[in-house]
Amino acid sequence: MPQNIYDNPEFFAGYSSLRDRKAGLNDVLEQPAMRSLLPGVHGKTVLDLGCGDGQFCRTLIECGAAAVVGVEISERMLELARSHDNANVTFEHCAIEDFVANDESFDLITSSLAFHYIRDLDKVIVKIAKWLRSGGHLVFSMEHPVCTAAQGIQPGWQTNAGGDREHWILDRYHDEGVRRSHWFVDDVIKYHRTMASVLNMVIESGLSVDRVLEPHAIESAERERPSLLDERRRPPFLLVRARKP
Ligand SMILES: C[S@@+](CC[C@H](N)C(=O)[O-])C[C@H]1O[C@@H](n2cnc3c(N)ncnc32)[C@H](O)[C@@H]1O
Repeated sequence: MPQNIYDNPEFFAGYSSLRDRKAGLNDVLEQPAMRSLLPGVHGKTVLDLGCGDGQFCRTLIECGAAAVVGVEISERMLELARSHDNANVTFEHCAIEDFVANDESFDLITSSLAFHYIRDLDKVIVKIAKWLRSGGHLVFSMEHPVCTAAQGIQPGWQTNAGGDREHWILDRYHDEGVRRSHWFVDDVIKYHRTMASVLNMVIESGLSVDRVLEPHAIESAERERPSLLDERRRPPFLLVRARKP
């Protein structure tokens, strides 16, 4: 049974506040990188896995997609998503692992920051490869393996006595598997896998990887928000675009 932490009221309040204040890295780093990887979407049928409040589904429609299906495990996130009425977007309340579709039914499959919550990601990617039409694309982002690796210690920055960030702690990189951390609440479960494993899962599914990104902020954003300079010291996100031959 996949974890549904976004329906935990305390977690949901913390996460919603982070997104509302635009204090996270989504709007300055991850979403622009996702948009930059999109192939032409005009008239395309798209599946968005782990769609959250549906922000990326709406982006896809703005880019000209004909129809978008958003899949989401959290009822609270879906309630937000459904509050933005759009006839061309439909939402399915289910785990990504349980979603069922016909083979070759989507031109594009996207997933923004949900894959690190999936235990058997290899199986999901094999299904994605079947759901895509020939020439279709998979575009996804996830927390970077450099960030998901640590366990047993509070993952994150090592600071000096003055509170300055000295180093990003990278530990247990090759020990793949479950990681439990504190993010708004205790016991948030994510799955760590190495960058090689992630890319090989995609390659072994029969898709061909055609672009990989590890984004950092543009200079003007860094000037406005100097803490973004730290995102040059460790890669927060890994993004991949792959194509079905
Ligand atoms: C970091 S949020 C990103 C939401 C959205 N994609 C965005 O970029 O705004 C991760 C989302 O993935 C969803 N999620 C996590 N595990 C899931 C699973 N196994 N099946 C479906 N959704 C899942 C969460 O409920 C949450 O809404």
